[in-house]
Amino acid sequence: MLISTKEMLKKAQEETRAVAAFNTYSLETVQAAISSAEKEEQPVIIALGERYFPTVDVEGFAAMVKAMAHKAAIPVALHLDHAYEKDSIIRAIKNGFTSVMYDGSKYPLKENIKRTKEIVDIAHMEGVSVEAEIGSMAKGAYSDEEEGDGTLTDPLLANEFVKATNIDFLAAAIGTVHGMYQGEPNIDLERLQQIHELVNIPLVLHGGSGTPDEKIVETINHGICKINVNTEISVAAVTFLKSAFDDEFKDDPMPHLSNINRVMQQKMEKAMQRFVRLFSNEKQAVC
Ligand code: 13P
Repeated sequence: MLISTKEMLKKAQEETRAVAAFNTYSLETVQAAISSAEKEEQPVIIALGERYFPTVDVEGFAAMVKAMAHKAAIPVALHLDHAYEKDSIIRAIKNGFTSVMYDGSKYPLKENIKRTKEIVDIAHMEGVSVEAEIGSMAKGAYSDEEEGDGTLTDPLLANEFVKATNIDFLAAAIGTVHGMYQGEPNIDLERLQQIHELVNIPLVLHGGSGTPDEKIVETINHGICKINVNTEISVAAVTFLKSAFDDEFKDDPMPHLSNINRVMQQKMEKAMQRFVRLFSNEKQAVC
């Protein structure tokens, strides 16, 4: 069933667990995400980034996700990830996305508040919840996201931002990166705790890929309710593709694309299932 992201995250917040938000951009990525969550009996968020709008038919994609959500054994939410343009937000809302992320993090606080507030007013009129960010994420290896400067979120400003904009979820920059880490991850849990003490809405962790499991669990215990994952799933698929012709398909001179897609989906699903289980924080989600 497709449910409101807000409802989904409220429950996660109450149960001290996080919901996986997988970046998806194809039939296989969506199928893998839903199937991994079904196996773990946990809800899941299907996220589509604005950056994929030029290559993904947004109307067709939304219709497909809604149909799959209807059949799914677990609650599914449909989220617009990192949108910089008002038009993209409106397009997502029109197509039944249950939440949107407006990313005004590159603007000074006052401007970010003004732009985010405008999106909140539009989205809330349609019953769609809004995620927004202050601070910004640095970029690690193999990421497909925009480069940020890695400024960590100031807890006092986070509180001011949430109050002034009336957003539903806050993306807090605490040292995770978009993509794989190129050195030791430096996650600022103390900062997260300060934000958690000041801000009551569900907190979002971007840059789930490559983050050590024990750090993930600590972030969940400090208020993180939604964790975004993109790069590590791509790495699982591409690692398979790079060796497929010397390995799984070595005896087949011309394997059919459908078979390659099938195995690739299995690899992604396995990687996703590990995240879903970890994020559940050993809690039974009441689906
Ligand atoms: P990763 O690519 O590091 O998993 O981050 C994804 C993300 O935060 C998308 O918003």
